[in-house]
Amino acid sequence: MSRRVHWTPDVLEEIRRRCDIVDVISEHVALRCQGRNLAGRCPFHDDRSPSFTVSPDRQLFHCFGCQAAGDVFSFVMRREGLDFAEAVEALARRAGVALPEREASPAERRRRQQREALYRALAAAAEFYRRHLREGPAGERARRYLAGRGVAPETAERFGLGYAPPQWDGLLTALGRQGFEPAVLEQAGLVAGGGGAGGGGAGGGGGAGGGGGARTHDRFRDRLMFPIRDEQGRVVGFGGRVLGEGEPKYLNSPETALFNKRRLLFGLDLARAAIRETGRALVMEGYMDVVTAHQHGFTAAVASLGTALSAEQAALLRRHARQVVIAYDADAAGAQAALRGLEVARRAGCEVLVARVPAGKDPDEFLRARGAEGFREVVEGALPLLEYVFQQAAAGRDLATVEGKVAVVRQVVPALAAEDNEVARAAYINRFSARLGVPEEALRRELNKFVREGAGPEGEPPRRRQTMMEKTGGAYNKRNAWDNSRGFVQAGAASHAPDRPAPSNRAERRLLGLLLRHPEHLADAAGQVDPGDFENEDLRRLAAVVFEADGAPVPAEGAGFWQRLDDPALRELAASLVMEEEPFADPARVVADCLRWLIRRRHEREIAALDHAISELAAAGRPVPPELGERWQALHRAIRGASR
Ligand code: GTP
Ligand code: MN
Repeated sequence: MSRRVHWTPDVLEEIRRRCDIVDVISEHVALRCQGRNLAGRCPFHDDRSPSFTVSPDRQLFHCFGCQAAGDVFSFVMRREGLDFAEAVEALARRAGVALPEREASPAERRRRQQREALYRALAAAAEFYRRHLREGPAGERARRYLAGRGVAPETAERFGLGYAPPQWDGLLTALGRQGFEPAVLEQAGLVAGGGGAGGGGAGGGGGAGGGGGARTHDRFRDRLMFPIRDEQGRVVGFGGRVLGEGEPKYLNSPETALFNKRRLLFGLDLARAAIRETGRALVMEGYMDVVTAHQHGFTAAVASLGTALSAEQAALLRRHARQVVIAYDADAAGAQAALRGLEVARRAGCEVLVARVPAGKDPDEFLRARGAEGFREVVEGALPLLEYVFQQAAAGRDLATVEGKVAVVRQVVPALAAEDNEVARAAYINRFSARLGVPEEALRRELNKFVREGAGPEGEPPRRRQTMMEKTGGAYNKRNAWDNSRGFVQAGAASHAPDRPAPSNRAERRLLGLLLRHPEHLADAAGQVDPGDFENEDLRRLAAVVFEADGAPVPAEGAGFWQRLDDPALRELAASLVMEEEPFADPARVVADCLRWLIRRRHEREIAALDHAISELAAAGRPVPPELGERWQALHRAIRGASR
C-alpha cells in the first residue's frame, strides 16, 4: 500500500523542515541540553547512562552505546519498525504534508495487477489447503501427524497450516472453478508443468491444458502445508512437508515475483509485535521449530527458509530487533550454520547471541521434551559471539597442553579481530588469556599478526578458501551439511563485504568522517582517491555518494545528501560518522595522513599484482615487457617518496 505514495526531494525537504528531529525524538526520549547537543537515554538499547545524542544543528541523532544513528526518518523507521516509505508517510501525516499519489504508468499498473492476481491466488490456495486440513477424510492423516507432533489445533490455525490433498489437480480444479487461470497459478508457483512460465498463452478450454508433454499439475500433493507470509501477513509462498518419511522432506515454492527466500522470514508477521516489544528476535532453523516455539509462548521466533541467514533477512530483523538470539539445531552442522548466521546478523548491526540447545535435539524436540521452562533457560543462557566461539573451540581440547592452547587461540583470534568495540575486545583478551593461561601480550600479538595478514596490503586475505556457502551459492539445508573443518572467519569472508571492523578500515572510516564534517577537504581528496580505494563495502558505497556530490555535500544542511543515501544502513553509517566526536586538533593533517595511507595501500596492491605477473612470466620463460618493470619501479619510488 504505502509504496503507492511517492515523494520528490522537495516533499522530503518539506517534511524534514516541519518535523524537527528534537520534537520527534522528545516524544520518546527525555532529552537534556548538553553543550550544543541534547542527550538522553537511548531508546534502542538498555541504556543506563545518557549515550544518546541529538544534534539540533545537524538534525541527526547518534548513540555512542549501540551506534544507532540517522536523521528523523531513520529514527521513526527504527522506533516504529517501518520501512523508509512508511516512515515518510508517517512523518508526512504528522507534518500535514500531502504526498502526491503517483500516476502509475500503464506498465506499472499491469505489473501491480499481476502481483495482485498472484496474492489472490496464493490466498485462495492457503484457504484451500487449510480447509483440507480442517475437514474431510483426506486430511485425517495430516491432522494425526500434527497431533502426534504436539501441535495444537489453535496453533495450526494461527499459522494457517494446511494440507494439500494427494490428487494431481485438486488445487488446479478448485481454484479454476473460482476463476483462476492456470497461467496465474503457475506464476504463483502453485502448479507446474504448464510448459514454461514465460510462455504467456497457457490457453485451452480444458482447464489443465499443458504445453509440450507434461500436463499442468499441482506442485504440492499430500503434504502438510506451511504458508509463508510476508511481514504484512500476505501469503507469498509455501513450504510443504511430507507426512512422515520421504524425499524431499520439504518442498518449497519456487522463486516467483512474490517469493524470494532471501527476503522472507517464516513467522515474522506473527512475531513482529513480540520482537518489537522485547527488542529481541529468536532465529531458528525450521518451520516446525517456529510453530512449536510460538505454541510454547516464544512468540518472537522466526526461521529462515532452509538457507543460512541472508544479509537481507538480517537487515529485516535489524529493523525490529536490537538483539538476535540464534537457536539452531545442536548438531555440528547446526553449530556451523549458527556461526554464519551470527556473523551475518552482526554485520547487520544486531547484538547476536547463540543459544545452545543440548546435543541431539532441535528446538522443537527440546521444547516438547522439556517444556517452556527448559527452553527459557536455554535462551536466557545464550552466549555472546566471542564467548560462544571460545567455548566451541575449547570443547574437547585439553587447555593444559600447548597444542590445546594454540588450537583455541587460532580459532578465537579471527572472531576477536571481528569485534569492533575496543573495550569489549580488550575485556575478552583479558578473559581468554586468563583461561588459557597465556599472557595477554601473546594473544594480542597473535591478533595483530592475524590482522596484518588479514587486512594488510599484501594481496589476498589469508586462508580464504572457497566455503560451502560460496560453493552452494548460499544454499544450506540439512542434506548438505556444512563442512565442519572451516573456522569462523571463512564464514564471514564468505558472504560479501570485507569485514566491517578490520582495522585497515579505520583509515577509511576516519577519512570519510572527516570529509563529511569538513567538506572543504573533499575536492582535494576526490582528486587523490576514489571510492574504489575503500575496501569496506559500506564505506565504499558511502564514499561513492560523498565524492559524487562534487564538493557540495554539507550533510547537515540541505537534504540533498541524505536523499541520495537510499539505503538505511548507509544513512546510519553516514550519520554516525558525522556525529562522531572530533578528536583531532588538526583535521587537515589527519585527512592528508589517511589519504597517504589509502594511496600507499593501493600502490602496494598493485606491486603485489605486478610481482605475481612478473614471476608468472619468468616461470613460463617469457620476457617481461618493459612497461611492467617501469611501472614496478615507479610504484616503489612513489612508496619510498611518500614515506620519507
Ligand atoms: P521437521 O523435520 O519436521 O522437524 O522439520 P524442521 O522444520 O525442523 O526441518 P529441519 O530442521 O530438518 O530443516 C530446517 C529447515 O530446512 C526446514 O524448515 C526447511 O525450511 C529446510 N529444509 C529441510 N529439508 C529440506 C528439503 O528437503 N528441501 C528443502 N527445500 N528445504 C529443506
Ligand atoms: Mn525439526
